[in-house]
Parts: sequence; C-alpha cells; structure tokens
Amino acid sequence: MKNLSIIGLGKLGSCMAAAYASKGHNVTGIDINQKYVDAINNGEPPVDEKDLAEYITHSRGRLRATIDYDDAIQNSEITFIIVPTPTDETGGFTSRYVQESCKSIGKALRGKEGYHLVVLTSTLLPGACEEEVIPVLEKFSEKKCGKDFGFCYSPEFIAIGTVVHDLLNPDFFLLGEFDKKSGDVLEDFYNTIPDNGASCKRMNIKSAELTKISINSFLTMKITYANMLAEIAENIQGVDVDDVTGALGSDKRIGKYYLRGGLGYGGPCFPRDNRAFAYMAKKRGVEVPFAERTDEYNKTIINRAIRFITDNIRKDDPVGIVGLSYKPGTYFCEESQAIHIARRLSEDGYKVNVFEPCGHSHAKEFLGDSVYYCGDMRECIEESSLLFLSNMDKELLVLSQLLSDYGNKIVVDPWRQFDKDDFAYNVKYVTFGKG
Ligand SMILES: NC(=O)c1ccc[n+]([C@@H]2O[C@H](COP(=O)([O-])OP(=O)(O)OC[C@H]3O[C@@H](n4cnc5c(N)ncnc54)[C@H](O)[C@@H]3O)[C@@H](O)[C@H]2O)c1
Repeated sequence: MKNLSIIGLGKLGSCMAAAYASKGHNVTGIDINQKYVDAINNGEPPVDEKDLAEYITHSRGRLRATIDYDDAIQNSEITFIIVPTPTDETGGFTSRYVQESCKSIGKALRGKEGYHLVVLTSTLLPGACEEEVIPVLEKFSEKKCGKDFGFCYSPEFIAIGTVVHDLLNPDFFLLGEFDKKSGDVLEDFYNTIPDNGASCKRMNIKSAELTKISINSFLTMKITYANMLAEIAENIQGVDVDDVTGALGSDKRIGKYYLRGGLGYGGPCFPRDNRAFAYMAKKRGVEVPFAERTDEYNKTIINRAIRFITDNIRKDDPVGIVGLSYKPGTYFCEESQAIHIARRLSEDGYKVNVFEPCGHSHAKEFLGDSVYYCGDMRECIEESSLLFLSNMDKELLVLSQLLSDYGNKIVVDPWRQFDKDDFAYNVKYVTFGKG
C-alpha cells in the first residue's frame, strides 16, 4: 500500500484518485477548485463520468482531498500531476498550469525528509519535462532531481465515458523515467493497479513524450483513411465502404479498430494532439504532411456533410441534428463535428433543431441560442424535414419505429446504422460510404 497525492481532480485526475484508492492505496487529491475538493470529501464525484461515483463510495476512508499542497506532499510518497495543458497560440501545449503546480510541490518538498517521486501525467511535447518542468521542481525545492527526488513522465490513454475502466485495464503503462530508481518506484506501484495484467513500457522521458503524442496522431490518420475510403466509395457505383474496411481490418498488420468510415474525429484529445504533433515535428525541422493533411481532411468532412443535407432539402425545410457530442454516451462537445455542422447550417439561414441524448448543457456553450434544443427524439423528428444522425448511439435504434409515425422524412446517416428497409416506404434514407 502506498500513500499517493494526485494533483488536479478533473476528468482524468478524479478517476485516477478513485481507481488507485480502490486498489487499497491511500490517496490525497489536490485541486485549486474548492468545489471539487468538497465533492471528494463528501463522497461525491466532482465530474460526471461512468463508474466514478461507485469507485469513490467504495474507496471511502482511503480517499480525501485538500487545497493544501503541504499537507498532501508531506503525507505521500508519490505525487501525480494531472492539471490542464491547453493548446497555446503556437499549436503546442502550454505547461503554465504544470509549472504553477510544480512551484507548490517544490516548496512543499523543500521541508520534506526522504525520497519523493513526482509523476507528470498531463500531456506535454518532447523536451518539455526536462526544459520546463524539472527545473521548476529543482528551483523551488532547492533539491536535485535523481538525487533528492525522482521524476517520471507517464501519460494515460483513456477515453471519456470509460475512464475508470481504461485506467484499470490499460494496454500498457507508458513510463518515461528520469533515472532507474524513479522508474523502479513507479513500476512497483503500477504492478498493483491493472485488472488485466498490463505491464510497463519503460524508456527515457523524451521517448515517452514522443510516444504519447504519436499514438493519437497515428489514430487520427487511421480514422481519416477510413473516412477517405468512404468518400471514394460514394463515387464508385455499387461499392460499400464497410465491406472494404471490414476486409482491410482483418489484415493483422492493419487491425480492425478505428477503421469505420463516418463523420470524422473530434473531442478534447485527437484534433489537438495531432496538430501539436505536426507543430512539434516542424519545430524540429521535420515535415509531416500526413499529420497536416489528416487535420485538413477531417475538416472537409463537415462540408461534405452539409452538402448531403442541403442537396436533399429546400432552404426553408428545418434540419434536425441528432447527437451533438463528439462521440456517443457523453455530453462533451469540444471539437465535435456535429457542432460545426449545426453552427454552419444556422449561419447559412437554415432552421436547425438539435437533440443530444446526454443533455444540452455543453452544446449550449458552443451554439447558444442559434439552434432549437428539442426535449426528446420525437420532438426532433416532428419538427424537422431532414434528420442528420451525427452519432452512432444505441438510443437511435428507436428512430425507425418513431419514424413510422411520420411520413416524408429524409434521414442522413454518416455511420450506416440502419438498413433502407428498416424505414417506411416514404422515408428517404441516405448514407455516407455507399456508391
Ligand atoms: N480528458 C481526457 O480525455 C484526457 C485524456 C488523456 C490525457 N489527458 C490529459 O490530462 C490532463 C488533464 O486533463 P483533464 O481532462 O483531466 O483536465 P480538467 O480540466 O478536467 O481537470 C484539470 C483539473 O486541474 C485543476 N488544476 C489546475 N491547476 C491546478 C493547480 N495548480 N493545482 C491543483 N489543481 C489544479 C483544475 O481545477 C481541474 O480540476 C491534460 O494534460 C490532458 O491533456 C486528458
């Protein structure tokens, strides 16, 4: 059993705190947001994430939170930092919040006896730990990294909606170590965590920084390849993209994951990580046109979607967008293709009705009152001539039944979730990816 401190109790940090406490470790969470600290101390989840409430309840007695760095650092041996690293004006990530946090950790470490390991989980670009993070820890602790305290860069690979599960069932732990001792301490700890027997990939810090950013960049490229095949399929009569990607994915060298032609990728990680990858490579004098073209192609899908919609209706026909978040099962709308489509249609003078099964709170931050928010799927169908199904979502399966109550509707489905025969004769069903 270890004593841990986890700095940043947001979407990732609160889940880490609960997941690690569930394995028997004593966890002290730190956040500058008093509300998040109070939530943990009251046994409630600070953010909305699947399984988090249950894991917090299950870990009561081993999980607490504070705003006091000194308290948390003195009472722990390992500190994880999971504060935001937003994109800056250059296209890279800012380490501003990480540095703020390291100042406080450094000051608390100054008066602490014994070895302490600091682990950075937040995403940063190659070179950042050694140039921007470790020097702050050394300056404010007045101690030497590798001698008085240890340091690792160890980002996580999780998806919103399955964060707790992903933390406990990783494919591997990415472990960038300052020195062998730091790596040994973290590996010993990680050996207590996984439900699936995952092991560590150990390497130096800069290699780990490059690995983290490469994985998301590679995945965006793979997704984009499938999307490109869908567009090609539309232009060859009789071709079905799912037949093509299904066969491609059966080739072990390619693999079946992230290979479904559709509306493109979005969310808080994929777009920004791929852009940061391109920025990082360019800064180092390496041209990576595939990363830049991936980003550009992903944006062109928005134009294609709008063409599919506007080619099928008149200007005064209302459009219903079903699903606004960047993926099913969450209400987060950051960099969501559906949000871009709804906004563009509304700017072009179309009446846009929207319905997100997980709630409209985040969508409203992006779309304001430029669209009409429907109370349920039935209202969205009733109020719209054309329905655009931006998310693959089980809830949509009721759509074909609901639609049988109404005639003369058009359904545009980038993901091919239905068969034409699922609908009444007077529903026109249009998909991406079929020629
Ligand atoms: N959310 C994801 O899907 C995801 C996936 C992989 C990696 N990451 C990375 O994890 C990091 C955190 O992401 P997130 O989504 O959890 O962010 P978040 O914004 O949800 O949470 C960050 C938390 O840090 C707190 N914070 C900020 N400065 C602080 C400080 N000085 N001291 C203490 N607390 C402080 C904030 O109040 C907030 O609660 C980012 O680098 C992100 O790139 C996130």
